[in-house]
Amino acid sequence: MPQAEAPAALTFPSSFTWGTATAAYQIEGAATLDGRTPSIWDTYSRTPGRVRNGDTGDVATDHYHRWREDVAIMADLGVGAYRFSLAWPRIQPTGRGPSVQKGLDFYRRLTDELLEKNIQPVATLYHWDLPQELEDAGGWPERATAERFAEYAGLAAEALGDRVRTWITLNEPWCSAFLGYASGVHAPGRTDPVAALRAAHHLNLGHGKAVQALRANLPADAQVSVTLNIHHVRPRSGAEEDVDAARRIDALANRVFTGPMLQGAYPEDLLRDTASLTDWSFVKDGDLEEIAQPLDFLGVNYYTPTLVSGGAAETSHGSDGHGNSAHSPWPGADGVSFHLPPGSTTAMGWAVDPTGLYDLLVRLKDDFPRLPLMITENGAAFDDYVNPEGEVNDPDRIAYLQGHLAAVHRAIEAGADVRGYFLWSLLDNFEWGYGYSKRFGAVYVDYPTGKRIPKASARWYGGVARTGLLPAPDSDQG
Ligand code: FCB
Repeated sequence: MPQAEAPAALTFPSSFTWGTATAAYQIEGAATLDGRTPSIWDTYSRTPGRVRNGDTGDVATDHYHRWREDVAIMADLGVGAYRFSLAWPRIQPTGRGPSVQKGLDFYRRLTDELLEKNIQPVATLYHWDLPQELEDAGGWPERATAERFAEYAGLAAEALGDRVRTWITLNEPWCSAFLGYASGVHAPGRTDPVAALRAAHHLNLGHGKAVQALRANLPADAQVSVTLNIHHVRPRSGAEEDVDAARRIDALANRVFTGPMLQGAYPEDLLRDTASLTDWSFVKDGDLEEIAQPLDFLGVNYYTPTLVSGGAAETSHGSDGHGNSAHSPWPGADGVSFHLPPGSTTAMGWAVDPTGLYDLLVRLKDDFPRLPLMITENGAAFDDYVNPEGEVNDPDRIAYLQGHLAAVHRAIEAGADVRGYFLWSLLDNFEWGYGYSKRFGAVYVDYPTGKRIPKASARWYGGVARTGLLPAPDSDQG
């Protein structure tokens, strides 16, 4: 074990949770099996021109059939937790009515196997696969979708609450609202800024109602949370217009969710910035109380910081890292320009900057001092390939993970109550609008055969997870 002698190895708390993460549509495949009906991502990916190479999640990594092998890989690596998502259209195919036993059975088998291998299951209820019927009825811009979501949450908790202790309502509602309904680079691909703001509110409301439905159906010691992709927004300079641009984007990216969820109100500046688009009259009496449910921790996804300037718009909407579109995902922020932060980039074109994660965690600690934090996603895509020896060596991913875990460690030392870390992703998978062209996995997937090959980073991460020791960057990365 060369790591053992590395003088600068960092020790994480023994209670720290080490996990890997995935999402249903990105890995499961089996799109029409056992009663599953189309989600908005099935429809979107089958629409020509939407997803790179016309890729769909029809087969994906075939996890629906290979789940046992995937759990065995996690057990071999030595990770202690697995964050996955439940496919709403598998459990409650039309988004209404009773649950489907076959769909639930899949998750029962999966979670039994995880528990058997001492891997803690962490279930996300919604990782973007809205049943198409609910989109046809208006989708997230409509209030009724929040009601439907709470019903589904109750069904899922009732069926799986005996084995899943940790629950997350929504994954990155920012993407659902603003990429789905404003820029259109995610399903359902609408480009209506007002619909996006309405969607944001109904996602908030759905979250609040789902938390109540979960708590009503789960044992008292269950952990309930939400995962936000908090953007760490930096102004390009100290000039007033740049600082104001950062404030606007922080409101639209972050405080539109943390305001109502954690503080019981929408930020005044957000309402002002968007006043020419909407008067927010879709926020009804009692909604804010319903949304502001106590949470056991906050799930945070981080990949890269966001760099902005104000004044005359200089850049296209693609440069915020969220995919190119003629329509902005930032309603009411037309004067804001996005810039590539300095440093190297990943295969997504995202800047590698662990200081963004450190700053973000410290800010969250300062803003919400009593709320524990969990990194529910962090990782990077690189152009991985299988070498002639049949191995996948991915030193860039190891360096990325090393740097970001060191930042987490530093944030813990600065007082941030970070309870765990989930590497995105266990497997290479369907990366939304980019299809299979971007590989985020610690495990390589050969799509034609479905064969799994753990990359060098998987072995490296397994070592960190088993020991709780983060080796110094220059030590042997095995
Ligand atoms: C996040 C998503 C996840 C994955 C990573 C790269 O926004 O939650 O599904 O696509 O980005």
